[in-house]
Amino acid sequence: MELGDLVEYLENKTILITGGAGFVAKMFVEKILRTQPNVKKLYVLLRPSQCNSPPQRFQTQVMEKELFRLLRAKWGKEFDSFIWERVEAVGGDISDENLGIKDAILRDHMFKHIDFIVNCAATTDFFERYNYNKLLLYYLRIIIYIYIY
Ligand SMILES: NC(=O)c1ccc[n+]([C@@H]2O[C@H](COP(=O)([O-])OP(=O)(O)OC[C@H]3O[C@@H](n4cnc5c(N)ncnc54)[C@H](OP(=O)(O)O)[C@@H]3O)[C@@H](O)[C@H]2O)c1
Repeated sequence: MELGDLVEYLENKTILITGGAGFVAKMFVEKILRTQPNVKKLYVLLRPSQCNSPPQRFQTQVMEKELFRLLRAKWGKEFDSFIWERVEAVGGDISDENLGIKDAILRDHMFKHIDFIVNCAATTDFFERYNYNKLLLYYLRIIIYIYIY
């Protein structure tokens, strides 16, 4: 597949990008918005923080970064509306059930409309410890699911 075909393919697509405040996700979001402004919707999943809502996190940790200078220069005063018409910053955690998205209406809408998922969420800190309880619950859920279905 040529790069041009890929860009064309992204037109009118709805994409879920996890790990939204991370290095790779930021680059990915910027690249899509720059090369395919006719993307339909980017749901950007960010872990909730105590002080900032997901849109605030996206604003300060993603779109205000130097990386977005070309888009900012291109869209000028319309930069903010250009971004927010295409991006929805959603709070969640990929290790939780339903990706930790609490708003059931939003979640159903997302799961119905997403064309594909780009997972950029990862633990890149070698010193972070496993949450064993969470891991255990996760595997229990899978076993129950397999048993029932
Ligand atoms: N950076 C590179 O050059 C590079 C090159 C090749 C491959 N990769 C791979 O690409 C992936 C992302 O790397 P990166 O450099 O973007 O890492 P990063 O900057 O550390 O970003 C990872 C993001 O994932 C989020 N995250 C972690 N656990 C999560 C969870 N349970 N639910 C939701 N979000 C979660 C983090 O959220 P918080 O902000 O809340 O902590 C963080 O924003 C990794 O698998 C890495 O190995 C990276």
